[in-house]
Amino acid sequence: MRIAFLSPSGRMGGSEAVLLDIITSIRETEPGWKLDLIVSESGPLAARAKALGASTTILPFPDSIARLGDSSLNTSPGSGRLNLLRHSIFATPAASAYVSRLRKALRELQPDVIHTNGFKMHLLGALAKPRTVPLVWHIHDYLQSRVFMAGLMKLARARCAAIVVNSDSVGQDVVATIGNGIPQQTIHNGIDTSVFSPEGERLDLDSLAGLAPAKPDTIRVGLVATFAHWKGHEVFLKALALIDPELPLRAYIIGDELYQTEGSQVSIAELKARAQRLGVENRVGFTGFVAEPAAAMRSLDIVVHASTQPEPFGLVIVEAMACGRAAVVSAAGGARELIEDGVNALGHEPGNAEQLAACITRLAKDPELRARLARAGRATVAQRFDRRRLARELVPLYERVRA
Ligand code: GLC
Repeated sequence: MRIAFLSPSGRMGGSEAVLLDIITSIRETEPGWKLDLIVSESGPLAARAKALGASTTILPFPDSIARLGDSSLNTSPGSGRLNLLRHSIFATPAASAYVSRLRKALRELQPDVIHTNGFKMHLLGALAKPRTVPLVWHIHDYLQSRVFMAGLMKLARARCAAIVVNSDSVGQDVVATIGNGIPQQTIHNGIDTSVFSPEGERLDLDSLAGLAPAKPDTIRVGLVATFAHWKGHEVFLKALALIDPELPLRAYIIGDELYQTEGSQVSIAELKARAQRLGVENRVGFTGFVAEPAAAMRSLDIVVHASTQPEPFGLVIVEAMACGRAAVVSAAGGARELIEDGVNALGHEPGNAEQLAACITRLAKDPELRARLARAGRATVAQRFDRRRLARELVPLYERVRA
């Protein structure tokens, strides 16, 4: 069996991490299979896939496609821009030339199955794929608010053999937006539970953030996320402003700007200014990018997930639980399928800074609760979110669509 994976991004976000876990899991169970990655840019994804034994092909996007981002895809119906986009981006000579190059690359690889990760590749893969090769869309995000993209996906769905979704919640969204004619399966993400584990290297978050060392009994609470607007950095800062300043607590914002597309993310400078206006600048540190999120999480007592919109899955949630850390989760969308509120994590309403502050306060004051959630969280991940499950679910799916 030969599988070609197509990724629109070469940097490491959640869906790229999952792609690497899929490649690893398949290599372990089916060492004879050939795995290929076609990606729009060189970078960490291509390097790591190669190290795992996949062949990699870099096919750079033309500018018009590279720049097409979440914000422009959120255009609502009826606006002039919608038609403009529909008629311009995927129908430009540059886009057609790209589809031809992709088709040629696929013909050379001769895959038995094409697995696409990310909306741009779902569409480009549908346009470029050889007629007889089945296409699997692995959908990681909601379509509902992306009217333009949903319209295009609907047009392209006849070329898709099966859809994999990362949560039932995303699955419902797919049915609502592009219909239910295509076989669809929820495959919850899996992670490497030996990397995301309670024991191992830790980081000196204070020095990374340029802060003086915190006092010994300080409780450390951190948000580990990309800088997309909806990841809730502002809610986290607002929550900090609501927490009793006497509580020995230090907060960290861990991560950096990632996306290529404009207007889709907050900047550290903006967040620092916001922290200052809220009067919490002395309570929060910004570490910037960390190469090992597991080491960062192990350095925290409480890991916060604060997405202001329903989270399709929320890899960081299972990573935190796997590291044996108490997690506070924005409980909506796919994230709700991962946790049991009060048992293996605490939930709060998306965007509700008061509730988030209350959860952090409760955990900061109660080491036993933290330990109980941590133990239960680790057990949940071992049982449900170990990446070895990925191949067990995907291999039969690939075999089915090929038959
Ligand atoms: C996307 C989703 C995120 C999920 C990740 C991996 O980035 O927004 O919720 O964890 O894909 O499936």
